[in-house]
Amino acid sequence: MSSVALILKEERLDKESLVELLNSKQTDLILNKAAQIKAKYIGNKVHLRGLIELSNRCNKNCYYCGIRAANKNVKRFMLSDEEVDRAIRFAVANNLGSIVIQSGELQSEEFTEGISHVLQRIEHIGEGTLGVTLSCGEQTKEVYQQWKDAGAIRYLLRIEASGKNLYQKLHPNNSKHSYEKRLQALHDLKQCGYQTGTGVMIGAPFQTLENLADDLLFMRDLDIDMCGMGPYIEHVDTLFYQYHESLPSKKQRLDWTLKMIAILRIMMKDINIASTTAMQSLVNGGREMALHAGANVLMPNITPGIYRELYSLYENKPGINEEASDSKLSIENIVQRAGGKVAYNEQGNSRHFTKRN
Ligand code: 5AD
Ligand code: SF4
Repeated sequence: MSSVALILKEERLDKESLVELLNSKQTDLILNKAAQIKAKYIGNKVHLRGLIELSNRCNKNCYYCGIRAANKNVKRFMLSDEEVDRAIRFAVANNLGSIVIQSGELQSEEFTEGISHVLQRIEHIGEGTLGVTLSCGEQTKEVYQQWKDAGAIRYLLRIEASGKNLYQKLHPNNSKHSYEKRLQALHDLKQCGYQTGTGVMIGAPFQTLENLADDLLFMRDLDIDMCGMGPYIEHVDTLFYQYHESLPSKKQRLDWTLKMIAILRIMMKDINIASTTAMQSLVNGGREMALHAGANVLMPNITPGIYRELYSLYENKPGINEEASDSKLSIENIVQRAGGKVAYNEQGNSRHFTKRN
């Protein structure tokens, strides 16, 4: 039996073994093990989250991100109340069951109240049936609590890099981009009672396989309920574009991302793992592959079409020119090709969370 096969059989998931898995050429062995575990603990249902990109205004300057504050080449938008209502009604009409509100990171009373207002609209239009995930960055515990009280049940805040060293290489060196604050925010979210999700980009400049192994251990130790991970993709208007020629190949980033998803599924059997949009930007069929590797959540973009190209975190983001980039049919096709079944009208809460509480 190969060393990788043995690690998988024994589920020996210490750091050294994780690096060996990430480094190995036996991707299929790893993915097959994850598929078995997913079948046993999750089944073949895929839950949907209608993704609303509410605003690309952001006061941070992460070195990798196309909508960072200092990028003057992007026109800033905030969806109107009417546009938000339209997107929510779309989610209801298409039986999506859940909504994700994603936004650049702002800290202000106006922003806090704005999100609370959106939460009220979701509650009203969805008649209380929709699950709501927020992904609106670092906030105080009070703000997280206010949004929780207004109806949000899940929160996604990527750690981006679980080690301080790498975190500081990905972000400017100032108090707005503090590693400690990011960690604190994740703990606050858990304490407020959210289903808490985190994640990292894969294949980013300066990142090593040791870093990725540490990220997996971090997620296990934090006992997260959900995870969103995707490949790093260059964007011309970022500081990191200078490294675009020395990045790992797309094929390599794809392989690592699939293995990260699969290993996380093996480590944390009953959490929700998203098949992210960045997968699709990297390669055609990327989202099917992620589902196949162990993911169980898809996030069709339901942001009104005219704004989609403005929410450009990285290059080649799919669906930018279409009104309904992810039609019902295309979502069903993705899920079917991965051997799954769409779970309509279900919130799809993290089993891990439900069990823990
Ligand atoms: N490539 C891939 N993912 C990115 N994100 C931001 N910029 C990029 C990029 N260039 C991800 C970050 C952030 C999320 C909103 O988008 O992980 O948390
Ligand atoms: Fe802002 Fe998030 Fe982009 Fe950082 S990754 S610049 S916080 S939108």
